[in-house]
Amino acid sequence: MRLLFVADPLETFKTAKDSTFAMMREAASRGHTLMACGPQDLRWQRGEPVTAFVRDITLTGDPHDWFRAEQQRPDERPQPLKDVDAVLMRKDPPFDSEYFYATHLLGQAEREGARVFNKPSALRDHPEKLAILEFPQFIGPTLVTRDEADVKRFHAEHQDIILKPLDGMGGMGIFRVGPDGLNLGSIVETLNQGGAQTIMVQRYLPEIVKGDKRVLVIAGVPVPFALARIPQGSEIRGNLAAGGKGVAQPLSPRDREIAEALGPILAARGLLLVGLDIIGDSLTEINVTSPTCFAEITEQTGFPVAKTYIDALEAALR
Ligand SMILES: Nc1ncnc2c1ncn2[C@@H]1O[C@H](COP(=O)(O)OP(=O)(O)O)[C@@H](O)[C@H]1O
Ligand SMILES: [Mg+2]
Repeated sequence: MRLLFVADPLETFKTAKDSTFAMMREAASRGHTLMACGPQDLRWQRGEPVTAFVRDITLTGDPHDWFRAEQQRPDERPQPLKDVDAVLMRKDPPFDSEYFYATHLLGQAEREGARVFNKPSALRDHPEKLAILEFPQFIGPTLVTRDEADVKRFHAEHQDIILKPLDGMGGMGIFRVGPDGLNLGSIVETLNQGGAQTIMVQRYLPEIVKGDKRVLVIAGVPVPFALARIPQGSEIRGNLAAGGKGVAQPLSPRDREIAEALGPILAARGLLLVGLDIIGDSLTEINVTSPTCFAEITEQTGFPVAKTYIDALEAALR
């Protein structure tokens, strides 16, 4: 098969931890052909299919100098997306306007016959923080608002709260405010920009000290091990990007309950790969753009995540 990865610049990959690289390595080991481009390489013109300027790549086996590209110039080889077997959209957030436009170009490619994973319309329909609103039975007390008074009422009720921007990632812009309410006003002003930005507020979940668990769901089926990302020192953020320590562990019965309830629903919408974030017994995020943690889970448990994913991709294409 010919696989096109739409991703961040290959030169920035840390291959030891990169889930997209793990997918590429597994695909290459099965004899599939690899191509790569970025969202900026996508184009459409009336009368032509959606096309990307791609690089044909092979893997070297060296963790640093890890790929060889046939093309040197970026605009050397236009590739109609409809003529590859699968397009894997693996661009990392932020989900900004350019991300949004890319999902539209990929959606047009689908209309022309391309197979795109995850499905572009489903990427748009599941903003990673707000997607949990659909599943209130699995989340903790949560408020979505622009209004400062609303946040203050929520704080008065719950005492210990977390505030977050809706477009953050990697722990960016996450604040905790305890019972003394210290800094609450300034934090709301900073995050809601004087009422211009919608924010999410949640009751602080004390189980975070045991980790923010990443549960991967592939074709609707949970990977049996989660990666608990445990905040270090005085940090409240478990994100690996914020220095969290990743510890793989079997799914708890509740992790499994949440993953088995959401898995089939999300898979039916074209989300072949989903990363649920669960703190204690509460779902906090549904990651759909470019879920990670393949390498850490496989390294610590032996469970072959990339193999499971490529199996699911091949099955979806049959
Ligand atoms: N309700 C909460 N209770 C306790 N900690 C939280 C809560 N929500 C988020 N956090 C902390 O903040 C981190 C980042 O929050 P998250 O909602 O996952 O946003 P991001 O997209 O930045 O990963 C989590 O890993 C966790 O450590
Ligand atoms: Mg998170």
